Amino acid sequence: ISVLSVVSEVSPLVRTGGLADVAGALPAALAAEGVAMRTLVPGYPEVLDRLRGAETVATLPDLFGGPARLLAGEAAGLDLIAIDAPHLYRRGGDPYVAADGSDWPDNGARFGALGLVAARIGQGLIPGYRPDVVHGHDWQAGLAPAFLHFAPGPKPPTVMTIHNLAFPGQFPSSMMDVLGLPWEAFRPDGVEYHGTLSYLKAGLFYADRVTTVSPSYAGEIMTHESGMGFDGLLRGRASTVSGVRNGIDDAVWDPAGDPDIPARYAVGDMAGRALNKDALQARLGLTQAPDALLFGVVSRLSGQKGLDLVLDALPTLLEVGGQLALIGAGDAWFEDSFRAAAARHPGRVGVHIGHDESLAHLMQAGADALLVPSRFEPCGLTQLCALRYGAVPVVSRVGGLTDTVVDANEMALASGSATGIMFSPVTLPALETALRRTAEIFRDPEDWAGMVMAGMGTDVSWRRPARKMAALYRDLLASTPTADA
Ligand code: ADP
Ligand code: GLC
Repeated sequence: ISVLSVVSEVSPLVRTGGLADVAGALPAALAAEGVAMRTLVPGYPEVLDRLRGAETVATLPDLFGGPARLLAGEAAGLDLIAIDAPHLYRRGGDPYVAADGSDWPDNGARFGALGLVAARIGQGLIPGYRPDVVHGHDWQAGLAPAFLHFAPGPKPPTVMTIHNLAFPGQFPSSMMDVLGLPWEAFRPDGVEYHGTLSYLKAGLFYADRVTTVSPSYAGEIMTHESGMGFDGLLRGRASTVSGVRNGIDDAVWDPAGDPDIPARYAVGDMAGRALNKDALQARLGLTQAPDALLFGVVSRLSGQKGLDLVLDALPTLLEVGGQLALIGAGDAWFEDSFRAAAARHPGRVGVHIGHDESLAHLMQAGADALLVPSRFEPCGLTQLCALRYGAVPVVSRVGGLTDTVVDANEMALASGSATGIMFSPVTLPALETALRRTAEIFRDPEDWAGMVMAGMGTDVSWRRPARKMAALYRDLLASTPTADA
């Protein structure tokens, strides 16, 4: 099966969040299942600079205001097709926003182009290449299924994956004409969303299959509370919506071979973990206390992640003998608040503001517990890293966190299956209770070691999810009339 993955960011080339990690990991994971995946990405400088053996495989004289060519090549082990369109993508900085934090004013055209090119490739734009399936990720790729739907002629079936429903990709209705989409599609049963054109909705409405990144999130987004206004549409097509949880690359995330940590370790040989805790405490200016319960956070600092609750729960966290180590970047309010908390509690709260991949590894290898108190979480990758590294995840019971952590209830502890601590609802008292429970179990070396071992023994890789995704493609192809029919 050949699949064209359509995405606006891909690790390790361009990345703002977990979406890029997933897009970067899927091709290798799926190759093991007999799926040949190529990835279509905008030709940002970061992509073009690293493309090797690039070959022009198609040209488009006018792609929303300028010429474009498609370059096929390889970068970081990925089989890429980059849209080289300087007027759209040749600019520095973030893929979505300008230096002042505002959206690029031409995002409608920039990601309209991504969807349009994906659709044209699906219909044979590149000589000798016709993917069996076109698979788009998030709103940036949402127009691909819509363009294919309205294109005459044979076309491949489409899959749309929701990584985060909170970003609808909204543009003024006048974009309909710019994009060349028929106005008949501009209605609630189509691409219209609160009077605007939503690229995400276009994808959700016209794709043959919709997936999201965990089974629980798939259920949540069909409810009024969590559906962000898409729940009706999703409920209406529930039999074609499913959740396939994310995995992580267990070669990159491997405590037994991690070059970023001072002491490597594994189940049965855990001595190194104490050294890493020591190094982490030193690195973040925390008191070198081997017995302190060291809570870690590695996160985007945005409302989604619920970290305001951690600020509010700090007195409790410290009272139970805890320390807090945080790596994060994002909203200025959070950055300032965590810096201030560190200043208020020297030696007990340590904060690194910024993105730091190698420090994230040290965090997972040195923290006793990893806090993820998200208000909603489509899947979450950081708790998967934590499981693999023996940092016990303390998480809210939402979305993918529900699907990836086994709460330490009495019987889960008794059977040795517990891997973390879960709390709900997502409120301060519930988080405080979770912190106390964590401390209680931490003071029982046998129970704690049992949880660490069960977590480290959990398969957090892409193997299972890749099998499910491949099965979904096969099922989709089996239920789609052949392209030539
Ligand atoms: P999201 O995509 O919503 O931000 P995920 O948990 O799916 O959340 O993916 C984010 C990934 O990026 C996780 O692996 C997390 O550990 C990592 N990460 C987040 N913030 C930072 C940071 N400041 N430095 C290093 N890694 C980070
Ligand atoms: C989004 C979600 C996160 C998910 C990631 C990759 O950023 O917030 O939960 O893990 O996408 O699918």
